[in-house]
Amino acid sequence: MTRDSVHHALPTATVGETLAVMGDVFVPNIAKGVIVRRPKAVSMAEKLGLDQRAIRRLQQLNEKYGPGPLMLNTPDSRPMALILDPDHANRVLNETPEPFATAEWAKRKALEHFEPDMALVSHGPERAERRRFNEQVLQSECPVHGLGARFAKVVEEEACELLDHVDRHDGKLDWDMFDSAWSRVVRRVVLGDTARDDRGLSDMLTKLRSAANWAFFHPGHDHLRDTFHERLCTYLKRGEAGSLAGEISRMPLNEDTKPEHQVPQYLFAFDPAGMATLRALALLAAHPTHADRAQDEIAGNDLERAPTLDYLRACVLESLRLWPTTPMVLRQTTEETKWENGVMPAETSILMLAPYFHRDDRHLDDANRFDPDLWLQPGEAGNWPMIPFSGGTGICPGRRVVLLVTSHMLARLLKGREYQLNPPTRLLSSKPMPPLLNNYDLEFKSKAY
Ligand code: HEM
Repeated sequence: MTRDSVHHALPTATVGETLAVMGDVFVPNIAKGVIVRRPKAVSMAEKLGLDQRAIRRLQQLNEKYGPGPLMLNTPDSRPMALILDPDHANRVLNETPEPFATAEWAKRKALEHFEPDMALVSHGPERAERRRFNEQVLQSECPVHGLGARFAKVVEEEACELLDHVDRHDGKLDWDMFDSAWSRVVRRVVLGDTARDDRGLSDMLTKLRSAANWAFFHPGHDHLRDTFHERLCTYLKRGEAGSLAGEISRMPLNEDTKPEHQVPQYLFAFDPAGMATLRALALLAAHPTHADRAQDEIAGNDLERAPTLDYLRACVLESLRLWPTTPMVLRQTTEETKWENGVMPAETSILMLAPYFHRDDRHLDDANRFDPDLWLQPGEAGNWPMIPFSGGTGICPGRRVVLLVTSHMLARLLKGREYQLNPPTRLLSSKPMPPLLNNYDLEFKSKAY
């Protein structure tokens, strides 16, 4: 049957199944915080194994309804669909932004709180201009950004200060210690050295992101948003050399570009990169054979020259595959779309749940194991959607800068040192990796050798 020959509606979940999807997929993800994480909710979700329930729920629907897409039983004014089939996921990602727009309505409502003109929630010529800008600033197709050596230096300096701190605390490394150093790296990379200690700017953004977690249920902080943008613009005007702000000062702009609405995304999206880095360190601490391979890579490279560190990048990608920091990838149809099984109405919100694909033990050998080689031999997973950075034409343009900075942070933390998780039983290589790893209560014992 061809797509064009089908005119009937897609299969639709029952009311009970729709409520179960709300309870198992949407509620836990919203509770954990879509725009900024709520540590207590993350801890609760880890203890209750909620991420596993979400995967299981979608697998059951897939077994009952086949490939879908599956419409949820929502009011006609707010149609929603689940993508259950790998080929459908690839289609949606490749046919972005028409007819599958990134500017999905719930995402728009959330990001309106602090970056209403960001590329992700824009459409048409405005999105095209903002996407061009982000791709150029972030050099999205270059494995190593032109400022790579400079970023590697920033990471080295901050990691060195962090490790001094660790040694003064009997070798203890925890989330708060790591996060302080990571935030300094992020401000320096994005805005320049003068922003290094501007915790006030990061705090303002966190407050705006907390409001964004509530999307349309929060009235917003208009005054705070203006103050934040004013302060951000002082850094953008300064355009410090050696930072992304410096790159921006040399970019062609037009009235649609709105750099001050793109850069908050750069700042906030580095947060999950920090989570992925500490989780990758936990994975390596729990898998000595992989830690040895990481040490070999570190020893075989001159870190000052910003090498690609493929193995450490693969470890970060595995951390993101096992525990994706953007679990819900959303699109919205701009017109009626035809599928093998029926027609999807225009204005439908589409959900691709990353963990459903990443951890599909029905199709992927070792879906629940730590296996960096999955990323080093990309043929292995074939056309299977691995979407920690989304994919296709809307893929995260910051992914390579993220992999550069995170792999160098791991290299600097690991060089000449060993790590043990506290307690060591937190992750065991002999067991499947847990559905969620709470980054906020990770703790390590580390010593130089
Ligand atoms: C671990 C860290 C990160 C992850 C997992 C991540 C993931 C993603 C994902 C999944 C999307 C697409 C969202 C969607 O389609 O709804 C996205 C978009 C985007 N990301 Fe990232 N990101 C990360 C860090 C960064 C950083 C550090 C930057 C900038 C320095 C960045 C810049 C962007 C931009 C500009 C977009 C919008 C792309 C567009 O719609 O054209 N990201 N990211």
